[in-house]
Amino acid sequence: MPTRPYVIDEMISAKTIAARVEELAREITAHFQDTNKLVVVGLLRGSFVFIADLVRELDLPVEVDFMEASSYGDATHSSREVRILKDLRGEIAGRDVLVVEDIVDTGHTLKHVLTLLKARKPARIEVCALLDKPTRREVAIKATWTGFEIPDRFVVGYGIDFAQRNRNLPHIGAVRFTDGDDQ
Ligand code: IMP
Repeated sequence: MPTRPYVIDEMISAKTIAARVEELAREITAHFQDTNKLVVVGLLRGSFVFIADLVRELDLPVEVDFMEASSYGDATHSSREVRILKDLRGEIAGRDVLVVEDIVDTGHTLKHVLTLLKARKPARIEVCALLDKPTRREVAIKATWTGFEIPDRFVVGYGIDFAQRNRNLPHIGAVRFTDGDDQ
């Protein structure tokens, strides 16, 4: 539970998100047009709302699978440890894969997950991230498709949490502490 009082300033409205999801889905559909069945891999838990909206806009045969990764360590150091808490149920060798991530921040999580998945020899693997904070990057990595580039603010909503709260907000908002201290 967050211990400090905070408010959430709306950053991206539900309507803007929906329009962008439609655009992303059109581009992804065109890219994987010739796939026989795309495996959409959602990274839990932050991508669950995004993946639900995105797959419903894809005009492709899809399978949905999930992975959960967690990164530990001091966020100010690049030696972060990423652990896989839940692996895929299905095989991806020879398959077309789309990894769906909520936020690419330092990039450690995505890099680790991609290294792991590429070792399983998928035919193609691409990444769609809803949000990107490019100024926070510690490892060189970029999603194939990004919904929105955002500044270095802590955000919540549309599946994304602050200490497990606020995932159910329909829009994306930035956390602002109201106890006078800087965030
Ligand atoms: P990275 O390994 O630093 O790129 O971390 C990515 C993960 O950190 C995301 O999938 C989120 O779970 C979490 N994260 C990064 N920024 C935020 C934020 O602003 N709000 C909530 N979670 C975040």
